[in-house]
Amino acid sequence: QRIALIGAPIEVGTSEPGALMGPAALRTAGLVRTLRDLGHAVEDRGDLAPAGLHPGETGLPAVAAWATVLSEAVEAALDAGDLPVAAGGDHSLSLGSVDGAMRHCARVGQPLRVLWLDAHADFNTPETSPSGNVHGMPLAALCGEPGFTGLFRQPAPPPLDPQRVHLFGLRSVDAGERALVRARRVGVTDMRAIDEFGVVAPLRRVLERAAAEGAHLHVSLDIDFLDPSVAPAVGTAVPGGATFREAHLIMEMLHDCALVRSLDVVELNPFLDERGRSARVLVELVASLFGRRILDRSPTIPEDL
Ligand code: ARG
Ligand code: MN
Ligand code: MN
Ligand code: MN
Repeated sequence: QRIALIGAPIEVGTSEPGALMGPAALRTAGLVRTLRDLGHAVEDRGDLAPAGLHPGETGLPAVAAWATVLSEAVEAALDAGDLPVAAGGDHSLSLGSVDGAMRHCARVGQPLRVLWLDAHADFNTPETSPSGNVHGMPLAALCGEPGFTGLFRQPAPPPLDPQRVHLFGLRSVDAGERALVRARRVGVTDMRAIDEFGVVAPLRRVLERAAAEGAHLHVSLDIDFLDPSVAPAVGTAVPGGATFREAHLIMEMLHDCALVRSLDVVELNPFLDERGRSARVLVELVASLFGRRILDRSPTIPEDL
């Protein structure tokens, strides 16, 4: 597999500074080396830098500038047959990466599905958002909710169908966005469902649906999907997240299904980390998604059990 690593040191979407160090921390934790050791041809494209954007520039124009360069980079990587890994950076990154995947999929006529591994729904609009932070809004923008004019490259493809998005690991939703998530019928496996059924059964359903239509699966991994005790380097920590083992199992299932065509790794805030621990966990998880396994065989129940 050819992998294009696209660094996106973006933090305009959050009020907690530090996420712009994310790509550097992921590289320091060995992201490129680890993927190469698994036999992949990794091209590190370095960090993107939107033209004309001044450091410290905030607001919608800055978000739009990032969305544009990311969309172009992800679309180009997919067109070239590479699997883009967008390393963030806050979650507003996905405005660009998913937009790029949408354009590629529209061109080649492949259905797109989005798996959103996150404590949050990220389905706020400027109207519903209690914080005003854009990293809590990318899905609403991608799904065509009002209030986001000027964000995407023009002409824009039709918005993402909210029913083709699946939120996995949800445990923190704002009142206004909760109403939207319900009304738009976004797919959800929340922590209540995970506690009750585990991660395997719900994820299998999501993957079966994607497999049945030969979909391009875009995975957006927000580090706060994990429990903060596993990955403390997060600005928006919510207790009760996925365990180390649940997260690895999910990544292994994602590898085995062979449907993942693009990936975001977002919301790592190295400024809040403990001696690189969270960055390392993320690299380990990405390794599992790209084929690392404990033994070179599928798991089996021993005969003598
Ligand atoms: N729902 C909250 C907000 O909109 C938190 C969003 C957190 N998003 C994230 N990508 N970490 O402000
Ligand atoms: Mn393709
Ligand atoms: Mn998020
Ligand atoms: Mn989150």
